[in-house]
Amino acid sequence: MVTERSSSLSEFYKLSHKRRLEFVKKFANLTDQEISSLQNFGLEVRDAERMSENVVGGFSVPIGIGINFLINGKDYLIPMATEESSVIAAASNGAKIARLRGGFAAKSHSSKMRAQIQVVKPRDFNRAESAIIGSKDLILETANRRAPTLNSLGGGAKDLKVRRLGTDRGDMLIVELFVDCQDAMGANTCNKMAEEIAPIVESLSGGRVVMGIISNLASERLVTATALFDKEALGGGEVVEAILDADSFARSDPYRGVTHNKGIMNGVIAVGLATGQDTRALEAGAHSYASLGGRYLPLTSWEKNEKGDLIGRLEIPIVVGTVGGASTVHPIAKICLKILGVSGAPELAEVMGSVGLAQNLAALRALVSEGIQKGHMRLHAHNIAISAGARGATVEEIAGLMIREEKIDFNYARKLLSEKGA
Ligand code: MEV
Repeated sequence: MVTERSSSLSEFYKLSHKRRLEFVKKFANLTDQEISSLQNFGLEVRDAERMSENVVGGFSVPIGIGINFLINGKDYLIPMATEESSVIAAASNGAKIARLRGGFAAKSHSSKMRAQIQVVKPRDFNRAESAIIGSKDLILETANRRAPTLNSLGGGAKDLKVRRLGTDRGDMLIVELFVDCQDAMGANTCNKMAEEIAPIVESLSGGRVVMGIISNLASERLVTATALFDKEALGGGEVVEAILDADSFARSDPYRGVTHNKGIMNGVIAVGLATGQDTRALEAGAHSYASLGGRYLPLTSWEKNEKGDLIGRLEIPIVVGTVGGASTVHPIAKICLKILGVSGAPELAEVMGSVGLAQNLAALRALVSEGIQKGHMRLHAHNIAISAGARGATVEEIAGLMIREEKIDFNYARKLLSEKGA
């Protein structure tokens, strides 16, 4: 199969996991210890191979629990998978302040996704458009044949729209199918449906279908989360004013807006990853929605009420599933969903929206008061101490020394450890 040191490998996928590992070991000169670390990831190879191809191992990310979350009157422990220090502590802190005034009110507005079918060179645009709209019932029925279970639960293809799109290769016809995905993320269903109706669309339009695929700009599948944050708990009126200034900065400058939104996604993605969601779709949806009006804007908005308390609101597309995909295959995702205790995808999306809002509040508060670096560095110092080899009580000791001396650095941690004889 293989010539040595070449990555051009026919039938690599047919090798057993063990043989594949042997090949990679030899190719990259890995040690036995490295091979065993690759394999030690808390997932059966069998399960991993159902999710991905050419599997040789897994990648572990710590899961921590976000605490203090009261959402729509219900208490949650929130599993968050992230490698970034401070994220879980910050979200928990934001939720603690929100809790003082009743927690988060979150609403998932719809489970509708859009599948797009691209048609080029229709015989006549107007006729093609009216022929497709005239056959709407037939098209929806055909699409729904691909999703009997979803249909029996009240979901499925619900609507169809057609628009003419000007492009640099001439006008095209875009047929859009709106699918209620309920508790599924929906990509497979939408894609299957788009492929199923493609021949009908092609013959009605007299043109050529180039592709049929879900859109990740899920502008219908929105979640809103709001919360009231007590002025005194935030640190006083000056902190509130500074957060409002920070909000205006993000609203007026995309270079700041995107970092502001990145902070929101720190929380959203951490829950998404822990529960086996398509995190790339979540990122794509959020950032494209942030620029939908032609300008990149923050996904949250902040204002103060007559008492000077802060009101936060997040509006974001959150496309998640609690059936299908990794959420039902990955054993850790299943455990995380159990910890969350959500009834389905809409509730999961409401939780994730609330975490995003808490995360943004905590980031802004830290940025405008002590600065993000201080808390961050504390956790960072612990990580550096551990990676330099510190264990047990020594971790705290080495991290403390590095913080005091403002020298948080791997080599310095090694030096301190060797001075201790550790
Ligand atoms: C870091 O991961 C996230 C922040 O940069 C977010 C923000 O600036 O709002 C702290």
